[in-house]
Amino acid sequence: MATIEHTPRGNWNTKLGFILAAAGSAVGLGNIWRFPTVMADNGGAAFLFIYALLVLIIGYPVMVAEMSIGRRTEKNPVGAFKALTKNKLFIVAGFWCVLCGIVILSYYVIIAGWTISYFFEQIFHYAGWQEWAGWVADTDNGWLNAGVAILFMGRTISVILGGVSDGIERAVKLLMPLLVVIIVVLIVYVLFQPGAGVGLKEYLVPDFSAITPDLLLAAMGQAFFSLSLGMGALITYGSYLSKRENIPEAAGYVTGFDVGIAFLAGLLVMPTIYMAQAQGLVIFDEDGNLVAGAALIFQVLPELFHEMGGLIGLFFGATFFFLLSIAALTSSISLLEVPTSYAIDEHGIRRKSAALIIGGIITLISLVIAFDTSLIDTLDFIFSDVGLPLGGFVICIFLAYFWKTENARLELREGFADIDSHWFWPVWKIFIQYICPILIGLILVTTIWGIFR
Ligand code: TRP
Repeated sequence: MATIEHTPRGNWNTKLGFILAAAGSAVGLGNIWRFPTVMADNGGAAFLFIYALLVLIIGYPVMVAEMSIGRRTEKNPVGAFKALTKNKLFIVAGFWCVLCGIVILSYYVIIAGWTISYFFEQIFHYAGWQEWAGWVADTDNGWLNAGVAILFMGRTISVILGGVSDGIERAVKLLMPLLVVIIVVLIVYVLFQPGAGVGLKEYLVPDFSAITPDLLLAAMGQAFFSLSLGMGALITYGSYLSKRENIPEAAGYVTGFDVGIAFLAGLLVMPTIYMAQAQGLVIFDEDGNLVAGAALIFQVLPELFHEMGGLIGLFFGATFFFLLSIAALTSSISLLEVPTSYAIDEHGIRRKSAALIIGGIITLISLVIAFDTSLIDTLDFIFSDVGLPLGGFVICIFLAYFWKTENARLELREGFADIDSHWFWPVWKIFIQYICPILIGLILVTTIWGIFR
């Protein structure tokens, strides 16, 4: 294992440490909750195709950009912009990043709380306590939502209090592979269930006429959300990154890992939706819109576990929701780390107070959402589908025209000595200077124009 110099800021423990932490941030509810839900709402396979394309041509280049800005400045997004340009507009952009982190986390914890509720639902169902199982499964129960969200938020804050943590690395190394194994076993099982074939076809056979501006925006938002991009989470994580690390390579691993898990989750959830529908659950209304909304996977996946039945169903159900809650935790940590490191770096607040104050504010916002979960869709649209790509756009413009690609090259050369002769450099440069900002801008403008027309 490579040894790493320890900056006073703290560092990842091993070469693998950063990749694990960034992958832990990427893999979460975005892959298993958001991706299948948004896809079911946006034409199945056509969405998958566009999503994969956008990850490659926008997501990956922006990830490299965020990591290099972070490692260069060793700062949170506000501090990073301040360190490299005098232009005040970027300070506003930095604040936007911090705000996105706060709001996204405040509804993220509600969904994450549901993973806890459903862990217990599996147990109560097995025990035959149907009344309790029904109670804990009710995603419209505000008090319950608030309770489990506070539980989850408390856990997130407690990790952040300790700073860059071994815990993240260990959780990702051990539990993520286990999650993959469970998902694969479940895929094999569901594919033998009646109705599943229709879902598989929806997932893998694209109908390109389904591609609309709305689908493009949804796919772009999903790419940013799932890769944890557009609000400086990877600027912040990159600030703890060693100079020996090869950034394009690390970004490649993280992207590949994240997309791989999302693909598997889709392979599980899409067939399960149609299996549940074949069993009589109402999933789509007459116009083909999702009835379930944000709670979709929490309604259909338990059907699968109950179908398996007995101890096997309990084992897979409880383990699945437990692992999902850990995956959510390694992501929520990165959401909280952005505003926390902002408060520490820019206002000199101690880590402990910063985490408690900001965590407290986020918990308060999440309490409002707990009692009105329809807010999730609206906030998710504003802050994830629009907000994150907007942040990504600013990051591209900042890197290309303010910090300048030449300086980025010097930073990237650390840990990637032969960058000058490698095809990566000219290609990435064109993407950051032109292709990414133009594409993001076009998609944002067409959809927003469509809304207000
Ligand atoms: N990527 C995470 C997921 O898929 C969510 C997340 C963590 C995130 N940090 C982020 C999303 C930063 C946007 C920005 O669940």
